[in-house]
Amino acid sequence: MRGEATAVAHANIALAKYWGKRPGPGNYPAVPSLSVTLAGLRTVTTVRFVDEGTGHRLVLDGKEELGPGATKAAALLDRVKAHAGIQGFAHVESRNEFPTAAGLASSASGFAAMAAAACAAAGITPGQPWISDLARRASASAARSLFGGFVELDAGPANAGDGEALLAARPLAPAEHLPLVILVCVTRRGPKDTASTEGMTLTARESPFYVAWVEEAPRLFTRMKDALAAKDLPTLGALAERSALAMHASAMAAGVVYLNGTSLEVLRRVQRLRHEGLSTFATMDAGPHVKVMVSLAEEQPVATALASVPGVLEVRRTVPGPAVTVTMGGAP
Ligand code: DP6
Repeated sequence: MRGEATAVAHANIALAKYWGKRPGPGNYPAVPSLSVTLAGLRTVTTVRFVDEGTGHRLVLDGKEELGPGATKAAALLDRVKAHAGIQGFAHVESRNEFPTAAGLASSASGFAAMAAAACAAAGITPGQPWISDLARRASASAARSLFGGFVELDAGPANAGDGEALLAARPLAPAEHLPLVILVCVTRRGPKDTASTEGMTLTARESPFYVAWVEEAPRLFTRMKDALAAKDLPTLGALAERSALAMHASAMAAGVVYLNGTSLEVLRRVQRLRHEGLSTFATMDAGPHVKVMVSLAEEQPVATALASVPGVLEVRRTVPGPAVTVTMGGAP
C-alpha cells in the first residue's frame, strides 16, 4: 500500500576510497571501498507518493532542489515506481542534521535515506541489497550508508553490460567492533568543491596516475579488511591514510585539487603526532576537510593538537554509527 515514510541515514567516510567508475551505464565503482558509518551526522528524509502533479519534487533543507541532485533523485524515484508498479510522483523532503556549511558530504546519507523512505512509501519491501543498489545508482558512497558500523562495497563488474546487475554494499562489522573516534577538522566554510562525480571523470580522463590508482586500490582494500578483522587500528589507519593520499595524488595530476593549505597542515600535524608516539591517521574526501582517526585512549591530546593548527575552524567529534531506520508517516 502507498503511503508516507521517513528514513534516517548517517553519513559515512571511506577508509578504502572509491574513486573512479566502470565505463558504461549503472554507476559502478572501478574499485572496492570500505567505510565507517558516522553517528550524529544524520539526514532525515520523508517521501510521499501523490497522483497529481507533473514531476517529482525535492525539497532539501527547505529549498527546492533543481540541479544534478534532482536528476539523480528522479532516476531513483522512477526505479522505485517501476518496481512497485505505481503511477504518480513523489514529494521528497530532506533535512541534513549537520551543518552543510561545514562542507561535509551529505549525498551518501541523503540518497541512502531517500532510497529507504521511497521503497517504504511505495509499499515495497525489496530487501536491503536492492535498496543499497538503488542508492548506489544515485551516488555509490550512498550504498554504504544503508548499513551501520564498517561496510564494504565491491567494484562493479568489468563489463557493465546494460547496467542492470545488482551491486550492493555489505556490512562487515558492527560499530562496536573497533572503538574509534573520528575528529573532523573543518578547514573552510563556503563554496562547494568540484562534485565527486565530475572529479572522478576528470581524473579518469586526464590523470597519468589513474591506472596506477585502480591497480593499487584493491590491494589496500584487502589489507584493510584483514586489519579490521584483526581489530588492528594502527594498521587500518595507516592503510586508510595511504588510500586517501593515493586517491588525491591521482586526482591532483588531473588538476583536481580538493585540499587547501590547512588540509596539508593538519596532515603534517597528524604525521608529527605519530612521530611523537600517538597512533593517529588522516583521511580526506572530495573537499578540504580532514578526518582524523584515533583510539578513545589517545583522543584528548590529538583533539587538542588539531584544534591548535592555524586555519582549523572547528573540530567535530564523531564515532562509528548505526544503520538506516525507517518509520511510516512524516518526520517527527
Ligand atoms: C571521495 O559517492 O559522491 O567520498 O557515485 O559519483 O555520486 P558518485 O560519487 P560519490 O563519491 C564519493 C567519493 C569519496 C570516496 C568514498 O566515499 O568512497
